[in-house]
Amino acid sequence: SRPESVVVAVDGTSGSGKSSTCRGVAARLGLRYLDTGAQFRAMTWFMLEHGVDVHDAAAVAARCAEPAIVSGTDPSDPTITVDGADASAAVRSAEVTAAVSPVSTVPEVRKRLLQLQRELIGGGGIVVEGRDIGSVVWPQAEVKVYLSADPAARARRRIAEHAHLGDAASAEAGLRERDRIDSGRATAPLTMADGAVHIDTTDLTLDEVIDLVVGLVEKAGS
Ligand code: DC
Repeated sequence: SRPESVVVAVDGTSGSGKSSTCRGVAARLGLRYLDTGAQFRAMTWFMLEHGVDVHDAAAVAARCAEPAIVSGTDPSDPTITVDGADASAAVRSAEVTAAVSPVSTVPEVRKRLLQLQRELIGGGGIVVEGRDIGSVVWPQAEVKVYLSADPAARARRRIAEHAHLGDAASAEAGLRERDRIDSGRATAPLTMADGAVHIDTTDLTLDEVIDLVVGLVEKAGS
């Protein structure tokens, strides 16, 4: 397949290095970038802003068709807007991070965002990160990658990125809790897709991981 039409599906746990890897790969290859986690975060932010109880699945389902969620796909400046307002920073807040896993378990939420995701991916030429991209959203992706890393390494990276998030032990506890919900839910749980190449990033630098994924894309295109 031509590189400009390739779809690269990257799934994995929180803190495995998905975002940095995907942005780096997209920038290197001149591809677009879609952060599906940001879409779930945007939906969660909308629910919090409107006082919806994020643990009440029926309440979340009832309102999930409302927000207009628009993802920018430039890997050097990924943005997300909700009803026209830039929510790129707000979706990274601790409040959203704590609430996003329960919102993501709601089937109606997943169905709504799946539509947005498939529209954006349709043209190809895109690196897509999430939990269910290679398994559910785009199983026909030419390249599928599953990234993982030891929990302690993931917690250290999170702390290095966001010093305000506190100590490594509580960061690790938060990551494990999100993994538990993301992997255990009934609809589209985090799983290694058929045909995915597993890369354990624990002892690799970001550049090494980017090189490995770029190599897979080049191999798929030849
Ligand atoms: O990648 P992230 O940490 O920004 O993702 C936030 C949450 O969104 C994650 O805990 C689970 C959910 N998510 C999902 O269920 N499916 C996806 N394709 C992407 C994210």
